[in-house]
Amino acid sequence: MSEPPFAVGVFDSGVGGLTVLKQLMVQIPSVSTVYLGDTARVPYGTKSADTVIRYAIACARLLIERGVQLLVVACNTASAFALDHLKKTLSIPVIGVIEPGARAAVSATQNGIIGIIGTAGTIRSGAYQDAIHAFRPSAEIISRPCPLFVPLAEEGWIDGEIPRAIAKTYLDDFKDAGVDTLVLGCTHYPLLKSVIESVMGKTVALIDSAEAVTQVVSEILTDRLPVRKRDAARHRYLVTDAPDSFREISERFLGHAIDEVDWVDVA
Ligand code: DGL
Repeated sequence: MSEPPFAVGVFDSGVGGLTVLKQLMVQIPSVSTVYLGDTARVPYGTKSADTVIRYAIACARLLIERGVQLLVVACNTASAFALDHLKKTLSIPVIGVIEPGARAAVSATQNGIIGIIGTAGTIRSGAYQDAIHAFRPSAEIISRPCPLFVPLAEEGWIDGEIPRAIAKTYLDDFKDAGVDTLVLGCTHYPLLKSVIESVMGKTVALIDSAEAVTQVVSEILTDRLPVRKRDAARHRYLVTDAPDSFREISERFLGHAIDEVDWVDVA
């Protein structure tokens, strides 16, 4: 099958990066994409930096072989651990979610107290913390992993008593610390936005890294890369395991059904 002449590659550990893809489709509808979900090796959030870097290299190589000309690392954990390596070693532009999210957080905060939530790996890496401090050294940051948000989002338990009780347990300290801005530093968390907002209150700015990264992609496309017509846009989906369950769950993340998901081997 022939590949589109230009496409943005998006990769994630699994289905979560579809939150980023969705933003790309909405904000840059003319752009073709190839999405790779590394469903055979998800989750990345609990793994070591070395392992995540190895996985990320394999995913990036596969997408480059498929002809993508710009790579979006939708996975926060992969962005946190592997972005520098990918940027140094790949010949195409590579964009991660951390820096755009950090920049958005710094412009949103009024009181300089910023919360970060993400996977254990993302929080442990200190990548968001460093990026925020690079933009605003005086920022006060509190952070913690919220691992249960991932299965809640995948199961579609995104409102009601149980997600709210879990969110409250995770987020009460952030409220007590007076954060006015909270970075949703994981692909899955935007699905729980309304529960998170109900706990944090409407005055706390919730930073969706998916929106922030799309803005950066949009700027790069305008400046450097050709943009095709909207009706020429094609979207391909590749996974390293279980295409059928990816297809089933993807609707929740993408908001619409997808027809074809192909299995690929990145090992
Ligand atoms: N995609 C991952 C992230 O954004 C969450 C799921 C995982 O742990 O792989 O960090």
